[in-house]
Amino acid sequence: MTFPQTRLRRLRANPVLRSMVRETTLDPRDFIMPLFVCEGNGVSTPVESMPGVSRLSIDSCVEECTRVRELGIGAVLLFGISGHKDESGLCGADDDGIVQRAVRAIKANVDNLVVITDVCNCEYTIHGHCGSVVNGKVDNDRTLETLALQAVSHAKAGVDMVAPSDMMDGRVGAIRESLASAGYTDLPIMSYAAKYASAFYGPFRDAAGSAPQFGDRRTYQMDCANTDEALREVRLDIEEGADIVMVKPALSYLDVIYRVKTEFRIPVAAYNVSGEYAMVKAAAENGWVEHDRVMMEILTSIKRAGADMIITYHAAEAAILLRGEGD
Ligand code: PBG
Repeated sequence: MTFPQTRLRRLRANPVLRSMVRETTLDPRDFIMPLFVCEGNGVSTPVESMPGVSRLSIDSCVEECTRVRELGIGAVLLFGISGHKDESGLCGADDDGIVQRAVRAIKANVDNLVVITDVCNCEYTIHGHCGSVVNGKVDNDRTLETLALQAVSHAKAGVDMVAPSDMMDGRVGAIRESLASAGYTDLPIMSYAAKYASAFYGPFRDAAGSAPQFGDRRTYQMDCANTDEALREVRLDIEEGADIVMVKPALSYLDVIYRVKTEFRIPVAAYNVSGEYAMVKAAAENGWVEHDRVMMEILTSIKRAGADMIITYHAAEAAILLRGEGD
């Protein structure tokens, strides 16, 4: 069938009909809200390069979690901004650390919210790398030990899921094994499986104070030019016991999301990262793009590419917009 029998515009003219044939829809349940937790009381310090995002002390974080929950968002992803740092990041495994205390407080005060923790050493090492540095290099196998200890410590605090973001080889297996020996066989792992060495993480590193003090992360994070390699990363993580696999960043990597989803048919998360967020905010503040429309178009595209869930700093504002649409 071709024109004039076929006219694709027929289903576009009526807005209700148009929404009935919409193939991809967003729901607040699709979103995971990242939160930065810091020491102190009543603290909410705006992150300059991420308008609308703040570093929160535990009490403020609990309040924000309550709001996020009321908006219908399913989960939060916690990043700890630790006052303590050491050479190997071992202090990230302190049962009384910032993330562990935040998890306990949220679980005690907010019902029906999935609490996920980022498991990585970069927020806890003096040099800001994701692992232990031996002779000037990030040592893979030594890092596995501290990561596994950190994951078990988060499990003890009552977290619902751990998300290792370090990109060491074998870390999902090491964490899975340590969780099992500590009795946490049922704790899901969402692995940052295909995480690229990306310039889009800039604002996050300001927010978390985790920029590497020397070199960069290219020896462990992926080259942005590769997708076959992403599939290998994902396959290994699934074999090692990951329950959800993540592609990060999202926007420049929609093809990777698509390939991972089609190849493995397992739950896929996409991380709409800090730099992607900051670009939208900056352009919108200048009046160069329409904020809400651009935001929803981006989130819809990420879901259309194959993501089952989206980690995004836009979570709350997008949920509010979606709620308005339903009225
Ligand atoms: C920690 C980590 C990073 C992000 C999430 N976990 C930074 C990095 O790898 O340098 C980035 C998130 C974002 O940019 O929003 N390893």
